[in-house]
Amino acid sequence: MGLFIKKPLNQLLEQAEDSEKSLKRTLGPTNLVALGIGAIIGAGLFSITGVAAAANAGPAITISFIVAALGCAFAGLCYAEFASMIPVAGSAYTYSYATLGEFIAWIIGWDLVLEYALGAATVAISWSRYLVKFLEYYDIHIPHYLAMSSYDTATLADGSVVSGMINLPAVVIVFIISFILIKGIQESAFVNAIIVMLKVTVVLVFIFLGWGYINPDNYIPYVPENTGTFGEFGVSGVIRAAGIVFFAYIGFDAVSTAAQESKNPKKDMPIGILGSLVVCTILYVLFAHVMTGLANYKEFAGQDGIAPVAVAISHTPYTFLQQAIILAILAGYTSVILVMLMGQSRVFFSMSRDGLLPKFFSDVHPKFRTPYKSNLLFMIFVSLFAGFVPARVVGEMVSIGTLLAFVLVCAGVWVMRVKMPNQPRAFKTPLVPLVPILGMIICLGMMAFLPGDTWVRLLVWMAMGIVIYFVYSKNNSHLRNQ
Ligand code: ALA
Repeated sequence: MGLFIKKPLNQLLEQAEDSEKSLKRTLGPTNLVALGIGAIIGAGLFSITGVAAAANAGPAITISFIVAALGCAFAGLCYAEFASMIPVAGSAYTYSYATLGEFIAWIIGWDLVLEYALGAATVAISWSRYLVKFLEYYDIHIPHYLAMSSYDTATLADGSVVSGMINLPAVVIVFIISFILIKGIQESAFVNAIIVMLKVTVVLVFIFLGWGYINPDNYIPYVPENTGTFGEFGVSGVIRAAGIVFFAYIGFDAVSTAAQESKNPKKDMPIGILGSLVVCTILYVLFAHVMTGLANYKEFAGQDGIAPVAVAISHTPYTFLQQAIILAILAGYTSVILVMLMGQSRVFFSMSRDGLLPKFFSDVHPKFRTPYKSNLLFMIFVSLFAGFVPARVVGEMVSIGTLLAFVLVCAGVWVMRVKMPNQPRAFKTPLVPLVPILGMIICLGMMAFLPGDTWVRLLVWMAMGIVIYFVYSKNNSHLRNQ
């Protein structure tokens, strides 16, 4: 049996029907779109937009958002075809088990830890920064050593530089959300729906109220001239910014990890994935347009976190919006973390049921019927990153890991069309192989823009995964032992 042994599709589908172990099917199309939006709008929109506008793209950050959306849309179409054909928990991991074989499936499953677990950690770190700002408004101060990792520093008002010890708020939010998840998917989806409504409302309010105060002079020049350094404005800057704001779109694929909890996955999975992507693209472009129209992009330089949004709002009479925006950001991040952590436990749930990981990860709670042991373990794992590692390091690992998964999913759809052309697909990716090829090119292009140290971390993580595969997973694979 080769490395690339494939799981028969009918076996996958039967497993999904296995009501004994099946997760509860409670989610409809609206829940799924909400789940997607919940996973998508977060640190990318509220932090990275201003930073990338100031350093790379200027007002043309709107174009960067469209370029990144194109890459995500191509990959999203491929995800939608897979999710409608193989509606089982596990997302890209499961799809590749049936198409590209066990070894590649393992690689993807292992890689998805970077997207979901480290994605949750990245947003938790940003969450903590905003909480500190929110509390400062009310004169409540969290000591620096409890609000940052030891690699982070902050400059105080008196000019002294301090560093942290542990990012405690980030750890606390990961704990709280893990316990919500253990309690059950239905409750979690409900909490998520409320939060999604809140953050979409605030984004819309920002767009509508800000629109009237746009100063057209701020759009000139729309694409600022390149500074002479590759990636700093000009066309190269707009494209580099696309790679940076790509982070803002990560999460729509998390919808596909909930296939087994969806009432009618064949029809609703594509609606959930593409619907959430379309809604977010429109909101992002409008948000970025208003933001760079209210203030000159240069004003966003050197501002951390909330500052870009705050700077924009200070050009309107609606300064009272600032605290509301911070609140929405806190709520928005909460739902991103929730969906990421859920996606993570579901991927490992599937890998464990295939024997590639210990049974521990698929043990379902007798009452809540959630993979609680997996949730608890990832609570610890994610907390370690959230508490002790700087956001930049984890954030870039999230991007590279996610882009790799997207490339492999695009490849998988194409392979599947060639090998199993007659397999029923409730949703078909248009223009195969053009769309998957474009998806791969755009995603590989964005990966190429990421720094070398991120590539090294990816290779180290993957090497660890390959060792585990040969030592444990290959010998315990249920498919091989059948
Ligand atoms: N798209 C998510 C965010 O922006 C990861 O926070």
